[in-house]
Amino acid sequence: MPPRAELAAAIETLRRERNAIILAHYYQDDAIQDCADFIGDSLELSRRAASTDAEVIVFCGVHFMAETAKILNPGRTVLLPDLEAGCSLADACPADAFADFRQRHPDHLVVSYINCSAAVKAQSDLICTSSNAVHLVQQLPADRPILFAPDQNLGRWVARQSGRELTLWPGSCIVHETFSEQALLRLRQEHPEAEVIAHPECQQHLLDLADFIGSTSKLLQRTQSSLASSFIVLTEPGILHQMRRRAPEKRFHEVPGADGCSCNACPYMRLNTLEKLWQCLHTMAPAIELDEDIRQRALVPIERMLAMSA
Ligand code: 13P
Ligand code: SF4
Repeated sequence: MPPRAELAAAIETLRRERNAIILAHYYQDDAIQDCADFIGDSLELSRRAASTDAEVIVFCGVHFMAETAKILNPGRTVLLPDLEAGCSLADACPADAFADFRQRHPDHLVVSYINCSAAVKAQSDLICTSSNAVHLVQQLPADRPILFAPDQNLGRWVARQSGRELTLWPGSCIVHETFSEQALLRLRQEHPEAEVIAHPECQQHLLDLADFIGSTSKLLQRTQSSLASSFIVLTEPGILHQMRRRAPEKRFHEVPGADGCSCNACPYMRLNTLEKLWQCLHTMAPAIELDEDIRQRALVPIERMLAMSA
């Protein structure tokens, strides 16, 4: 492996040789974001994965994101630098338990957050992301009840925003559940001029204190469009890299976890490193493999989402 100081250049050389595109989520380490061809939220990354003509997609994010790229663009090799990069939401919703849940609600439409496995997507009528969930749920027939999985915090927010009643799967994000309300209130006192911006995976009592709520991309756009000069940010701190880059004159404050430590980095996202990024391009592994029947069934609700959120 090249020395650390030469890794970024070596990754760029390999990227060209392999005809690869590097897609990165905002929660990746700064150094990985700096190597990426495209950085985005889940919806934008899915769109980019679907439309790329690169032969190889290196997905610097978590497993469900790379899996979605493979579902949408099965002819490409999709690499994930660390195959263990999972998600607490996807883990909280096993496919067999989800099948039982659906069977107990046979008349319901099934809307699943993209943070779930391909096997759960394959059992869903519609996939959503945090950036389009409200818009999509508002389009569903008013006379059909709706199941929403696996994030109960996002589900409650979508229900309030859309005016629809949702039956929720009881999953949550271990990162967005750690923020301390006390620490947030203290930060607000210290920085009364700051705008509080939050990801909808946060718990309701924190969202109630937010001035603006949205997906990672929407939070980033907000920091650029708002007249506020500082922001208290209730989401994974990886996104501060782009916030600071795009608005260097503004100030950004992280909210610590309930135990007082600033440990709200996503442990799954942070499994990917620059070294593993180089390694996966070098060895062309680990690659995402999918059962073709599940892939085809999971594709239907994802394509429905893309059509309905266009
Ligand atoms: P976004 O779609 O807002 O980027 O969210 C992805 C995610 O995993 C948030 O925890
Ligand atoms: Fe999953 Fe939460 Fe990490 Fe997002 S931040 S990938 S929802 S565990």
